Amino acid sequence: MAQVSMTVNGKAVSGEVEGRMLLVNFLREDLKLTGTHVGCDTSQCGACVVHVNGEAVKACTMFAAEADGADVATIEGQANADGSLNVIQQAFQDHHGLQCGFCTPGMVMSAAALLNDNPNPTEHEIRAYLEGNICRCTGYHNIVKAIMAAAGQDVTSIAAE
Ligand code: FES
Ligand code: FES
Repeated sequence: MAQVSMTVNGKAVSGEVEGRMLLVNFLREDLKLTGTHVGCDTSQCGACVVHVNGEAVKACTMFAAEADGADVATIEGQANADGSLNVIQQAFQDHHGLQCGFCTPGMVMSAAALLNDNPNPTEHEIRAYLEGNICRCTGYHNIVKAIMAAAGQDVTSIAAE
């Protein structure tokens, strides 16, 4: 067992974990932050994307012990301080960027990382960035549209689906 301490959504947390415990399991099982989802066991789906020290990371690909000392952000910390949806979350709602919602936390966290790095991405850049996020429902069109809208881009030229 190893002692780990990290900051999650601005709060200091610590725990005792087995060396093999994945970060996603530490978040979901020990911290009860179940907004970070597990959609595969092959590191393909992206439902588990969180930010570690500002970078988008699939939390199923990292041991909790590796995040010792890190600054972690999850979907639970993304809303505005008053509890309202942040600009990306609101854009997903406005542009129907989700259906069942299972992939949505990972999509929103990936989108946030993309827009941090590239505040004005092209449609192609968004589609390329989301290569590691799988959605079983929407066909991606409205997800891309939502991210473009969150970036302040005109999406009227993108046909509705
Ligand atoms: S659960 Fe991490 S990529 Fe699917
Ligand atoms: S909205 Fe259902 S998996 Fe993406």
